[in-house]
Amino acid sequence: MKFFPLHLLLSLGLHLATIVTGDNQLLYFGFTGTNLTVDDTATITSNGLLELTNGTANCKGHAFYPTPLHFRRSPNGTVQSFSVTFVFGIRSSYLSMTQHGLAFVISPSKNFSDALPNQYLGLTNNMNNGSPTNHFFAVEIDTALNIEFQDMNANHVGIDINSLNSAKSYYAGYYDDKSGSFQNLSLNSAEAKQVWVEYSGEAKEINVTIAAALGMAKPVRPLISYNYDLSEVLQEPSYVGFSSSTGAVDSQHYVLGWSFSINRPAQVIDITKLPKLPRQGPKPRPILLEAILPIATATFIIVAGSITIFVVRRQLRYSELKEDWEVEFGPHRFSYKDLYNATEGFKGEHLLGVGGFGKVFKGVLPSSKLEVAVKKVSHESRQGMMEFIAEVVSIGRIRHRNLVQLLGYCRRKGELLLVYDYMSNGSLDKYLYYDEYNTLNWAQRFRIIKGIATGLLYLHEKWEKVVIHRDIKAGNVLLDSEMNGRLGDFGLARLYDHGTDLQTTHVVGTIGYLAPEFIRTGKASPLTDVFAFGAFLLEVTCGQRPVNNNTGDNQEVLVDWVLEHWHKGSVVEAVDSKLQGDYNVDEACLALKLGLLCSHPFTTLRPSMQQIVQYLDGDLPLPELTHTNMSFSMLSLMQDEGFDQYAMAHRSQASISTISGISGGR
Ligand SMILES: Nc1ncnc2c1ncn2[C@@H]1O[C@H](COP(=O)(O)OP(=O)(O)OP(=O)(O)O)[C@@H](O)[C@H]1O
Ligand SMILES: *[C@@H]1O[C@H](CO)[C@@H](O)[C@H](O)[C@H]1NC(C)=O
Ligand SMILES: *[C@@H]1O[C@H](CO)[C@@H](O)[C@H](O)[C@H]1NC(C)=O
Ligand SMILES: *[C@@H]1O[C@H](CO)[C@@H](O)[C@H](O)[C@H]1NC(C)=O
Ligand SMILES: *[C@@H]1O[C@H](CO)[C@@H](O)[C@H](O)[C@H]1NC(C)=O
Ligand SMILES: *[C@@H]1O[C@H](CO)[C@@H](O)[C@H](O)[C@H]1NC(C)=O
Ligand SMILES: *[C@@H]1O[C@H](CO)[C@@H](O)[C@H](O)[C@H]1NC(C)=O
Repeated sequence: MKFFPLHLLLSLGLHLATIVTGDNQLLYFGFTGTNLTVDDTATITSNGLLELTNGTANCKGHAFYPTPLHFRRSPNGTVQSFSVTFVFGIRSSYLSMTQHGLAFVISPSKNFSDALPNQYLGLTNNMNNGSPTNHFFAVEIDTALNIEFQDMNANHVGIDINSLNSAKSYYAGYYDDKSGSFQNLSLNSAEAKQVWVEYSGEAKEINVTIAAALGMAKPVRPLISYNYDLSEVLQEPSYVGFSSSTGAVDSQHYVLGWSFSINRPAQVIDITKLPKLPRQGPKPRPILLEAILPIATATFIIVAGSITIFVVRRQLRYSELKEDWEVEFGPHRFSYKDLYNATEGFKGEHLLGVGGFGKVFKGVLPSSKLEVAVKKVSHESRQGMMEFIAEVVSIGRIRHRNLVQLLGYCRRKGELLLVYDYMSNGSLDKYLYYDEYNTLNWAQRFRIIKGIATGLLYLHEKWEKVVIHRDIKAGNVLLDSEMNGRLGDFGLARLYDHGTDLQTTHVVGTIGYLAPEFIRTGKASPLTDVFAFGAFLLEVTCGQRPVNNNTGDNQEVLVDWVLEHWHKGSVVEAVDSKLQGDYNVDEACLALKLGLLCSHPFTTLRPSMQQIVQYLDGDLPLPELTHTNMSFSMLSLMQDEGFDQYAMAHRSQASISTISGISGGR
């Protein structure tokens, strides 16, 4: 009679602790920190489960108590009674299908490297299955039907002696203690279940019992009762442990707790101390949730979808074009979102007017509550954009009471937005030509003329660079709340290198302001601005457009008409009849004469802006116009220049030239 003393491996009382007591007794509540010999896929998980197989297909795994146990009192003695109970769990990604199973084993060796996975459960192979030299006893928990081993179904328990052909097996289930009836149970339900294996050395009987659920008492009637003398099988000493294998289906086989005793009943496993099995599939849900969830899911999807669409649309709606070189212009850049909100999405009711380059909207900046005019200019190429933006920003720094302040810009794909100070009284041309607007009196007109002259002087001579406006005309003179004239529409020049969709009327209308040498050479200079200012002077004083082609084919050029009056010595007759004679004759004469002088085809005879301001202020007397000097006809000059053909052939170029620009340093 020989006992192998077993040591206390781990401290008692710990949760998930393992207690191994002496005198041929083992007790495990979880396997954390234990000294089992594991191989292949077998491992002890972080929460203390003995994981025999980890879901990898066609694998096997074993776990044995490291030292062998003596089942006999003497080498020639019989195998003593023993009692085993363990808690196992089988799960898989495929709910009701697992392969293959696990087994409790008593074997002379821990080395099962020759054994096969799949139906062999990691216990035998095709050569040694059934061989008496195997000397193993096993209880299989089998979830696969294998015809080769005469399995009864895919959910059975069997007693295996040296072979996977079970000595005795039965459907997994139990006999109800009260009714005595057999109840099927599912081995791979992913719920832990407890098994008892008992061997009576005296009766040479093996009982295998399984309970319906964890925590239920061991059923009185065993599932399988089989008479066999294990003394004929087991070697001395033998190892105790588990074997498991997977097949094609990914399956996980776990042992949660284990109790083993020789010659006495196995100690009770405290199921409350067992580790938890990983959850199978989705979390079990209350029925209410089950009903609500689809609705909630649908709602969520709709809401999430709407939000996504909203965000994407918002992104698209507010999307801008921004390039690295713009960083330095950052402070002058407006966000499209702000401009969009300022104009309430560029609503029609905020439209101030449509110019040659695009629509102009009124807006109120959300942050500063500042009233602005946003000009939307479509552009296709980014060619020259950098220079243009540089110019916009540069112009934005110009501040003068007679210039419309350019506040900044914003750029989107195919679109440029220029933000200006809002001029509450609109453009001057309306007051001159539209009946629905009260015409301006002479004092107002003269003040506007003087203002524009000062503004232009500032651009030409007072600012750090020489700025040529290139598009001086009544339509580009805007009136602020105090009816101050302010020159607007700066710096669109670089944008329109290529053709535009400017209407013919626009080109003709602008043509009256174009200096002959500009038409010839296409080169703008301060003196081409002076020429245009002359046309503007006459326009405001006479209340007529520089070129009037209202009267059929007869093109009437305002300069020629005024010149005619001057030659006849009745220049005041050219003054706007809408003033009804109520004007300062000296000032009107000065304006008309100065207008003619500025409109002179010879650039050398035109005054500079500095002089113009002095003339208007009366600081300098206007030089006498002589008939010799003034013997020109703008119309004949235009026709000589082949103006019509030019205008037809170079419409786009002509339109470029109507735009302001900055020339190099002074
Ligand atoms: N800063 C502003 N404040 C108030 N209204 C403005 C402002 N800028 C433009 N507008 C209005 O928008 C209209 C269109 O302006 P825009 O400058 O685009 O056209 P235009 O001057 O008639 O032609 P062009 O594009 O050839 O200069 C103007 O007639 C004016 O009434
Ligand atoms: C399972 O165990 C095998 C062998 O140790 C390993 O190669 C494999 O990565 C493991 N699979 C998972 C899912 O842990
Ligand atoms: C674990 O088992 C090995 C082999 O049987 C043994 O050498 C070792 O001492 C054991 N360790 C513990 C902590 O029991
Ligand atoms: C035990 O068996 C061996 C041979 O297997 C034999 O030699 C020996 O005499 C036996 N001892 C007893 C006490 O029966
Ligand atoms: C297990 O047995 C095989 C032969 O059956 C052998 O090659 C291998 O080394 C053994 N492994 C161990 C750990 O003893
Ligand atoms: C148990 O299941 C087997 C098939 O797996 C079936 O033949 C048997 O009738 C079932 N028994 C009960 C009581 O449901
Ligand atoms: C096996 O079960 C039968 C029937 O309940 C019982 O009489 C017998 O004692 C049991 N044997 C063992 C070893 O538990």
